[in-house]
Amino acid sequence: MREDAEKQIKVLRYNIERHNYLYYVEAKPEISDTEYDNLYRELVELEKKHPELVTPESPTQRVGGAPLEGFEHVTHEIPMLSIDNTYNADDLREFDARTKRFLGTDEPFDYVVEPKIDGVAATLIYENGRLVRGATRGDGTTGDDVTSNLRTVKAIPLALATRGKQIAVPARIEARGEIYMTRAELDRLNSVRREAGDAPFANPRNATAGTLKLLDSRECAKRRLSAFFYGLGVYEGPEIAFHHQVLETFRTLGLPVNPEYRKLSSIDEVIRFAQEWAGKRHTLPYEIDGLVVKVDSFDLQRRLGRTAKAPRSMIAYKYPAEQARSRVKDIRVQVGKTGILTPVADLEPVQLAGTTVKRASLHNFDEIRRKDIRVGDEVLVEKAGEIIPQVVSVVAAAESDRRKPFAPPDTCPVCGGPVVQEEGEVYLHCGNLDCPAQLKERLQYFASRNAMDIEGLGQAVIDQLVDKGLVKDPSDLYGLDAADVEKLERMGKKSSQNLVNAIEASKSAGLERLLAALTIHHVGTALATTLARHFRTLDALTAASVDELSDIRDVGEIIAKSIVSFFSSEHNSEVIAKLRDAGVSMQATGAAVEEGPLAGETFVFTGTLSSMGRPEAEALVRALGGKASSSVSAATDFVVAGEKAGSKRAKAEKLGVKVIDEADFLRKVGKK
Ligand code: IVH
Repeated sequence: MREDAEKQIKVLRYNIERHNYLYYVEAKPEISDTEYDNLYRELVELEKKHPELVTPESPTQRVGGAPLEGFEHVTHEIPMLSIDNTYNADDLREFDARTKRFLGTDEPFDYVVEPKIDGVAATLIYENGRLVRGATRGDGTTGDDVTSNLRTVKAIPLALATRGKQIAVPARIEARGEIYMTRAELDRLNSVRREAGDAPFANPRNATAGTLKLLDSRECAKRRLSAFFYGLGVYEGPEIAFHHQVLETFRTLGLPVNPEYRKLSSIDEVIRFAQEWAGKRHTLPYEIDGLVVKVDSFDLQRRLGRTAKAPRSMIAYKYPAEQARSRVKDIRVQVGKTGILTPVADLEPVQLAGTTVKRASLHNFDEIRRKDIRVGDEVLVEKAGEIIPQVVSVVAAAESDRRKPFAPPDTCPVCGGPVVQEEGEVYLHCGNLDCPAQLKERLQYFASRNAMDIEGLGQAVIDQLVDKGLVKDPSDLYGLDAADVEKLERMGKKSSQNLVNAIEASKSAGLERLLAALTIHHVGTALATTLARHFRTLDALTAASVDELSDIRDVGEIIAKSIVSFFSSEHNSEVIAKLRDAGVSMQATGAAVEEGPLAGETFVFTGTLSSMGRPEAEALVRALGGKASSSVSAATDFVVAGEKAGSKRAKAEKLGVKVIDEADFLRKVGKK
């Protein structure tokens, strides 16, 4: 039975990895997403039945683990240099001439040209084919150890394989590349963020950087990052003499390489290729900000050497950001559905990067002040990887009719409600829960499946209820009767009664759903459940202080303050009182947070354990309710020192943190 399962698991993993390879490396998927999901689910089920067969390289182990307290620093064995930029064909010819001068030759040689992806540089180290570490570039010398986040990126293989090719998996290989986000994923992420009241990311690079910085790799796993590899760092394996061989080796091993790269034999071909891509680049599903031109031969690369910051054998060719001039006709303040006030410039229409631009984002009020943008000014508008055009600067201020500096409103332009700014945030919000700009969206969210789950209360009904003044806040829903609903368009007797019944039934949805339904800034469904199960009743939660809230897992100070501020609003208190009077349950339905035997204890592992690998040991700690961290601090409870324990042990001793050995650890987790 166990052997059967073992075999089945092996086959499933093989197939999942193969389809991953076909999808991410070959870009030639053979099965649909649903079929892939089915294979994956089958593996999850089998592994659930046989947890002893789970390995760190299993595709199921990409889901992320408990949050880290911070990232460890990693010193790159070979520094991650930067590259010089060029902006036109003449610059490229000059680079070619300089290179030949330096080499003292007129002989032609090959260049490899690759798209320059607008993401974040990272490095992966594989030892004997296994991913052992992933880090950011940082300052080029030292980066952050973001292994747990990079393991969630499906394009990154957890283990290298040669797929039947006649090469060996290198003993050690460092693959450097770009982690990026497709435009489609950025759109998806930004709409989720807007929904949750968080500020959207301006471009894929910021989104990628922000995602890699997340301390909770489970959150990282929810944002689908991608990767392309283009550089070799540390390497112990069969000899490689050309850059294009690096790219082919990466592909064979399962590391995605940008399929658009070309080996070209003269600078004229490079220039032609660059011009071709200037027009085509917007057709790619991800942003590129130029091309990178590299001397193909490693021998020549070595002879060319490097300057203080960049190799002489490479150059970036950057496309200029697309810009245009226009005039600011007006500055308007929009109120988003979650209440964020965003200033927008209305522009005289202008052509930019293939579209007519009539509006540009001004981001926030600080930005308007900093750039001193006023109505009537002539401004420079730019689209550089961003989705929405930005106002870069004022080119000419309006002379005679130059108005006063733009002042942020102190009341909501839609409802006249109070404008609030949370500490540490640049954004202004409308503090009125029932602001009509937000009301319809909030009601929709209130009724949604994740929240109170009121079937039949869709957008069309909500629009009518709000427009007719029947519903001014969520509590009014509970006062509706079938006769009121029947008066709405397209509502028959039966559907009206069904809706009223569904509203009635939602009264017992419980505190978990109610908290999610209230759209408290920063509180999504997962946190709503945590809060409900911790406090049990709404009264207990309402009475909690910022300090008490901050003690809860997943609640930082900003979130704690947002919760306290929500409940201290008089208006919100009134709505809650009305919900209570209507009979809406304010009690948690689920069990209290389950606590494992290691709850509240933080472990740090150092050195090598003989009975299991570090990821396995960390997973065990988490499974028992504890926390596993990679760095020692005063908050660490135990440092588990294996063979050849290093500096972490010394640090623990200095901080007075208890150091235990492997046997002690195994006893603690009931394995001995
Ligand atoms: S090669 C010695 N190739 O651009 C530096 N870089 O402006 C080797 N980038 O830090 C870098 N696509 O983050 C290289 N195909 C590509 C690239 C690429 C994007 C980024 C990378 C690098 C930055 C330099």
